[in-house]
Amino acid sequence: MKGNWAPADTGATTLRVVVWRGDENGRFEEFEVPRQPSQTVLDVVTYIQRSLDPTLSYRFACRVGMCGSCAMTVNGTPRWTCRTHVDKVASGARLEIAPLANMPVVKDLVADMGEFFDKWARARGHFKPSATRNDAFATVDPASSERREADAGIECIGCGVCYAACDVVAWNRDYLGPAALNRAWTLVNDARDAGQAGRLAAVAGDAGCHSCHTLMSCTEHCPTKLSPTRSIAGLKRATWRLALVPEDGE
Ligand code: SF4
Ligand code: SF4
Ligand code: FES
Repeated sequence: MKGNWAPADTGATTLRVVVWRGDENGRFEEFEVPRQPSQTVLDVVTYIQRSLDPTLSYRFACRVGMCGSCAMTVNGTPRWTCRTHVDKVASGARLEIAPLANMPVVKDLVADMGEFFDKWARARGHFKPSATRNDAFATVDPASSERREADAGIECIGCGVCYAACDVVAWNRDYLGPAALNRAWTLVNDARDAGQAGRLAAVAGDAGCHSCHTLMSCTEHCPTKLSPTRSIAGLKRATWRLALVPEDGE
């Protein structure tokens, strides 16, 4: 983002900010940033890049809590930085900002989300149509339990906050993680989808839903207030049913 952005001179006190620099083998570097009213953590990072060190790498797009691309670790907790006010998280006028956990670091505050999205593919997180363009539109009852289950998880924007908060991902990097499993459950409840048997088989393995410890860290941290834990519980039930009553393959 280019422009004439500059901090207002409010005479505010300063904030001590330590920011991760470099790749996995990097280190924290300290900056002094003026306090501002209603200042967000993303404002702080932007100030550092614009006014103190233009080589700082970070990611953002919308600045209004819609895209999820500004997610970082702030004082040890994964958050959307554009929706996090400094006043709420700065402890003793100090902030520690790092890239999202459980992902490789590209540089500074930018995490590599390739592995995160690969797991959506492994969990069969894509829609597989059961109809052709010649068929009539599918009618889905908005009050049906399947539609309500799908609605509960569909607003995921793939920000990775839940994934960074998940202890099981930290212990087992093969684990599909809360976002991919939430996506799978959304599609399991889509009456129009024809990929159910393959999807349930994909999420039933060692790296799938049964590895979840149900500690709800993902649900506590999701900025969109989704509950991947609830979706994973649904997948556990569905895969148990599948084990009891085997279905034909896709
Ligand atoms: S479930 Fe929530 S925290 Fe996880 S990727 Fe989706 S929006 Fe982000
Ligand atoms: S509830 Fe499951 S998916 Fe969510 S953070 Fe805990 S172990 Fe990870
Ligand atoms: S920049 Fe889009 S959610 Fe923060």
